[in-house]
Amino acid sequence: MVYDKTVLKHMREAGKRLTKVIFELREAVVPGVTGLELDALAEKKIRALDSVPSFLGYEGYPASVCISVDDVVIHGIPSKRPLLPGQLVSIDLGLIYDGWNSDAAFTVIIPPIEENKKRLSDVTLEALKHGVQAVRPGVRLGTVSSAIQKVADDAGLGIVRDFTGHGIGRDMHEDPPIPNYGRPNTGPVLKPYMFIAIEPMLTEGSGCVVIEDDGWTVRTCDHTNAAHFEFTLAVTEDGVEVLTPHVQ
Ligand code: MF3
Ligand code: CO
Repeated sequence: MVYDKTVLKHMREAGKRLTKVIFELREAVVPGVTGLELDALAEKKIRALDSVPSFLGYEGYPASVCISVDDVVIHGIPSKRPLLPGQLVSIDLGLIYDGWNSDAAFTVIIPPIEENKKRLSDVTLEALKHGVQAVRPGVRLGTVSSAIQKVADDAGLGIVRDFTGHGIGRDMHEDPPIPNYGRPNTGPVLKPYMFIAIEPMLTEGSGCVVIEDDGWTVRTCDHTNAAHFEFTLAVTEDGVEVLTPHVQ
């Protein structure tokens, strides 16, 4: 969707609030904390910023955040199990402020940090950054997707193809879908005041996934670890603005 210029300031406000919540939430990811505790914390912080947790009740989703550990890629439902040393934890959350959505995800590893998990997480963030760097008006979306794919391919990591990034704005999920693989100079052309969420999900294996019986939990089919980073971005008149700059 292409929005009006006046929307940028609203999307900035939604992004700023989500970034603030993420900074606080990240500090709380320590051994022994449970997913339910992190979920309650995130919900409290979102509401304290006059915002609404967008995931809660979305297609029946039961929580305000997704907490995906090790071989869970996305959509892990917060539970009462304590997080443990060495786990790779991906947290995804979104909020609505004044009717405008922001959506973001980050991966953290609880020490002691295994080298393979660190590399997976670092490459996934790198893939996101390369995607962001490709965004500007006039560029076609396939160019962005292919920039993400190249980082994963070069590192020999698997790309999850069954889920994508997306447009965002009044709704959390809008057109266009943004795959983490693609061919340069294909697909829709980016225009100023399009708002998009880019979210590479990479695995140590092939990238294939299965959905568990709870209807949500997305796990790698080969039980390899997965990492996930996501920003909400604005396409601006001369380039791109990351609206949720929760990592550098
Ligand atoms: N935030 C996810 C995304 O990045 C969607 C979460 S689905 C929900 O697109 F049900 F958990 F909200
Ligand atoms: Co998203």
